[in-house]
Amino acid sequence: MNFYDSDRMTDLLKPHGYQLDDNEDDADLIVLNTCHIREKAVEKTYSELGRIRDKINARKEKNGKRSIVAVAGCVAQAQGKEIIKRSPWVDIVVGPQSYQNLPELIAKVDPVNKNKNINIDFPTIPKFDQLNAKIEERGPSAFLTIQEGCDKFCTFCVVPYTRGAEYSRPLKSIIDEAHKLIDVGVKEITLLGQNVNAWSSKGLDNQNWGLGKLIDELAKINELKFIRYTTSHPLDMDIELIKCHKDNKKLMPYLHLPVQSGSDKVLKMMNRKHTSKEYLKIIEKVRHYNPEIAISGDFIIGFPGETDKDHISTLSLIKQVNYAQAYSFKYSKRPGTPGSVFLNQVDEDIKNSRLYEVQELLRSQQLSFNKQTINSSIKVLVLKKGKKKHQYIGRSPFNQSVYFSSKNEDLIGSFIDLNITEAFQNSLTGNILSDL
Ligand code: 5AD
Ligand code: SF4
Repeated sequence: MNFYDSDRMTDLLKPHGYQLDDNEDDADLIVLNTCHIREKAVEKTYSELGRIRDKINARKEKNGKRSIVAVAGCVAQAQGKEIIKRSPWVDIVVGPQSYQNLPELIAKVDPVNKNKNINIDFPTIPKFDQLNAKIEERGPSAFLTIQEGCDKFCTFCVVPYTRGAEYSRPLKSIIDEAHKLIDVGVKEITLLGQNVNAWSSKGLDNQNWGLGKLIDELAKINELKFIRYTTSHPLDMDIELIKCHKDNKKLMPYLHLPVQSGSDKVLKMMNRKHTSKEYLKIIEKVRHYNPEIAISGDFIIGFPGETDKDHISTLSLIKQVNYAQAYSFKYSKRPGTPGSVFLNQVDEDIKNSRLYEVQELLRSQQLSFNKQTINSSIKVLVLKKGKKKHQYIGRSPFNQSVYFSSKNEDLIGSFIDLNITEAFQNSLTGNILSDL
């Protein structure tokens, strides 16, 4: 979602004379868009801010020009003034629900008095209604935020505090944005939301629509070929959406459905509102409708009170699901969340060894999933050039990176049929089937 927000900030600032630069050394404005989900991400913000201070000081010394520094995103939301206290060279602090005000905040920066502008409000008018900037450039694949925030309050998670309450963007605003993306050459859209499958809005027939119906509506756009969505919560995985994975050929056979733990005791402590059995039942149902679907997930290792027995239940759930790919993280205490004050925090060494075991298992499942595709034919969307001569990188329907070669210089944005020849941990290689 931060990638999406960064793109929107870029669009927003273009009419004000700003354009993206790969090099920060001579930038008039540096916007650091930040993540607060785990402690490591927050530490990264402060170390990046130290690096930025050196850059802006060097620029000032070189040509007397002063760069404006803005911190956006969830660290900005959670830390507010504290950021300016710790990093006084920052001019603007702006939260994820108020970045539509960035042009005004920039205009108010006074280079002499160095006044600070902080805006971490949750606005009454949703930011999407104020983000009317033209979309300029996205490449073949783009994100589209359809839902934000969360009302589920898992006890480990900061999202309900930083992104705010659950909000679904109205249908028309989503369809309009999809058309704008298609107009700049986008072929694949990934619908985004912290609880994307909780999306609901009044449909074209005035009935309440869920994500399945939205995907069917978007699929009517001819030039849009691949549709994805992330991230889902098991409680909101309704039958309409599940059936969409069978009936809608533009919806990719990939489902990211975090479970976090395989132990019912831990799930209860996490306030996940589902058991491991209920999760497995959903996976079974999804596979019933689409047997080839790639399943992905998220795991938190070492949540307070997690015992060896709970850890074994997590390994067992992973074995039962057999993931195509999944993310796993050590539990990280987030200030202000209930989990951070639970008394039975798990020892760091134990977390490390459990994480290692989980990741080894997930890695082996991912490699076997990738190997299954050898000798099969896969249609990929070509995303970019690789590092080697004539090399391209595409994305498979199962969300795998696929490398292939072609002397044709003009393939980005095309769909190419490949015969898969080799499979690795994180990628595949293939040969072009169709003669171009
Ligand atoms: N510690 C570790 N991982 C976390 N996540 C969210 N909060 C925490 C935390 N406090 C993980 C969850 C979530 C993913 C986006 O980040 O697995 O699904
Ligand atoms: Fe965080 Fe997702 Fe739980 Fe909401 S459902 S609190 S976003 S982990």
